[in-house]
Amino acid sequence: MNYMPVDGKPDRMHVGARVLDLTNWIEINSDYENDLAQKRELLANKHDEVFVSLPLGDGGSREVLDLLSEHLPRVFPDCWAGEVSIDKNLHPLEAASLLVQEDLCLMSQVGKDWILSAASLCFPSRWDVRDKIGKNLLGIHGPVPHYEETIGVATQNIFDKLTVERPIWRVNWTVMDSGELHQPVAVRNPDAMTVTRDNIEQTLYFRRERQTLRKLPNSGDILFTIRTYTEVFSDVVARYPEFRKNLGSTLEGVTPQMADYKGWAKILNEIQAWSNG
Ligand code: HEM
Repeated sequence: MNYMPVDGKPDRMHVGARVLDLTNWIEINSDYENDLAQKRELLANKHDEVFVSLPLGDGGSREVLDLLSEHLPRVFPDCWAGEVSIDKNLHPLEAASLLVQEDLCLMSQVGKDWILSAASLCFPSRWDVRDKIGKNLLGIHGPVPHYEETIGVATQNIFDKLTVERPIWRVNWTVMDSGELHQPVAVRNPDAMTVTRDNIEQTLYFRRERQTLRKLPNSGDILFTIRTYTEVFSDVVARYPEFRKNLGSTLEGVTPQMADYKGWAKILNEIQAWSNG
């Protein structure tokens, strides 16, 4: 992903939705084989931690699998010559998730609410999909400080108004002390972050999530994809030299609640010193 969300403006929570050209729905890069091997291992050995489903999402899940089976050979003919091979014994959303690097979350409408009805989530950013299944948007985002009063209504509106013809994408980002894609809740231990301005570039990772939302024509469900990219700071700075200065000014907008939530409380000062250095 060549999109840099840290631009030096003070951080504020926003939806930041852009129209998605469906040709770019899925991204495939040189990590494909590694990422898929990791997914296969997690789905085999920790299935219940990374895959959840309700019967409500069965129709939408089959639709996702069909859409991907059509999309991938058409858009990536070099990777898929001919038909996509699918394990028919798996839940269709699980089979779909084993075709792409993205994590897949299916949202189904029940009354006014959009409910998480199925998910294959191998690369969580320190949350547990088992806590979220069956919840609506507000419930899913319960632990996120300021969510409800800042973007809760706008996010609900995006779901209500999304059309089949006009999918969207957005980016979330964070800073972590690990470059592992699979970050279950259990690894959250902010006190363990021991960074100084001198080792920051080798110790901290910039984690970006490219997220897409696509309404499915038959079921009316919405597929939320999350593609996670993680890079050690030294690589980020090499590609985006302005990142160093911009991160400090962007983090000036972070509230104490958000710093706690992200696990940054103990490292913000060091990041600022590095950024200003
Ligand atoms: C337009 C749609 C959405 C917006 C604007 C949005 C926004 C956000 C924001 C701002 C955060 C805080 C993350 C951070 O800064 O690190 C967040 C976290 C999160 N979002 Fe969303 N989100 C959207 C859709 C969804 C959907 C469809 C799901 C379904 C699974 C989801 C699941 C989560 C989860 C699980 C977290 C972490 C919550 C936790 O810590 O327990 N989001 N989201």
